[in-house]
Amino acid sequence: MAILEVNQLKKIYTTRFGGTQVQALSNVNFSVEKGEYVAIMGESGSGKTTLLNILASLDKPTSGEVFLNSRNMSTVPEKELASFRRENLGFVFQDFNLLDTFSIEDNIFLPLVLSGKHHSEMQKRIQPLAKKLGIEEILKKFPYEVSGGQKQRAAVCRALITKPQLILADEPTGALDSRASDSLLDLFENINNEGQTILMVTHSVKAASTAKRVLFIKDGEVYHQIYKGKSSSKEMFQKISDTLTLIATGGERYE
Ligand SMILES: Nc1ncnc2c1ncn2[C@@H]1O[C@H](COP(=O)(O)OP(=O)(O)O)[C@@H](O)[C@H]1O
Ligand SMILES: [Mg+2]
Repeated sequence: MAILEVNQLKKIYTTRFGGTQVQALSNVNFSVEKGEYVAIMGESGSGKTTLLNILASLDKPTSGEVFLNSRNMSTVPEKELASFRRENLGFVFQDFNLLDTFSIEDNIFLPLVLSGKHHSEMQKRIQPLAKKLGIEEILKKFPYEVSGGQKQRAAVCRALITKPQLILADEPTGALDSRASDSLLDLFENINNEGQTILMVTHSVKAASTAKRVLFIKDGEVYHQIYKGKSSSKEMFQKISDTLTLIATGGERYE
């Protein structure tokens, strides 16, 4: 069953005073099945963040539809959007978005506090997650007291604690060194193996090669996709690099 369905999505930005228009997405179509791990790649300016913002219902498309669990997101009333988002989606941002005045633990609890969960429920949920993420030791610390990798793990914990249908991640390894980045990717593979659906935008070929499917966006459309199938991450890395080269050269071949 598709957890996410994107139909003929189009986004045109119009500058103020009705000046120039930018077509960020022209016609995006794809769906994500429950349990998939999908990476989205594309050159800078190809519309990746625009797409993710629309999927997160932080922005509205010019036309087209997004279905989350068969529900048309454009029919969710404005006043229900925040709770709809909180109950169905988990976000992992490139720059973590942790609040410095809150402890790591309170940052993680925040979405549960917003949805009115009891403290006992919060404690029950955080324990197994913090253990799996290896952040038990830092729960009482503040974001400025821990490393980038630990902050990112805390951000992943905060995204998972609401038990979301779908995790959306925008360049989750963008701010990490290679060790922290590898460990985050292991973690994504792990939680995906346990059934969590993940959609991740990334620049990194290495990050994308851990996903089971990679979509390539070009000129505001899904231009191509490749499945990992039985390939190793190393073979997938090569396939992705070749595809990016082909896209960058406009698909021309030297004959
Ligand atoms: N708020 C905005 N107003 C006008 N144009 C925008 C806005 N956000 C993005 N764009 C334009 O839309 C296109 C796609 O941008 P973006 O989605 O950020 O791409 P990516 O994340 O792939 O780099 C770019 O041409 C960008 O300049
Ligand atoms: Mg972007």
